[in-house]
Amino acid sequence: MTKKIDAIFALNCSVNGAKIEREIHSSRSLLEFIREDLGLKGTKEGCGEGECGACMVLLDGKAVNSCLMMAVQIHGRQLVTIEGIKGKDGGLHPLQKTFMAEGAVQCGFCTPGLIIASEALLRRRPGATLEEIKLELTGNLCRCTGYEKVLSAVEKAAAKRK
Ligand code: FES
Ligand code: FES
Repeated sequence: MTKKIDAIFALNCSVNGAKIEREIHSSRSLLEFIREDLGLKGTKEGCGEGECGACMVLLDGKAVNSCLMMAVQIHGRQLVTIEGIKGKDGGLHPLQKTFMAEGAVQCGFCTPGLIIASEALLRRRPGATLEEIKLELTGNLCRCTGYEKVLSAVEKAAAKRK
């Protein structure tokens, strides 16, 4: 029988621009840390096994599935959750605006993950093409929208960011 190894770890990181210092169990997943310890419920738990993208967050600017990572892995790094995605004026982010304008949100469960994945792409490729957007969002499942409005929302945000 394998024995689960757990220890207390002193975690230092940045979350949505604020420095965080916490003692956590080394067995804590990043998703548990975000939702339960930090109370940031915008990051969703869907499949819990890396298939749906609902739990995506930005880690040092790259989109990662937080259900597949341990919280200790963000030590010394910069985490941004959907709560940290804002426009320059502190209001809605341009992607949030285009998602609303295009009607790309229904139940909204997938939306934080889609916005995070799209933001990661647009940071790398500000004027991303439709094909690039489709490729980037293959890890994000949506059971409601049929994807067309989502793709259109990201395309519009990309056109504005060129
Ligand atoms: S909950 Fe993490 S990928 Fe589905
Ligand atoms: S809007 Fe419901 S899962 Fe995407």
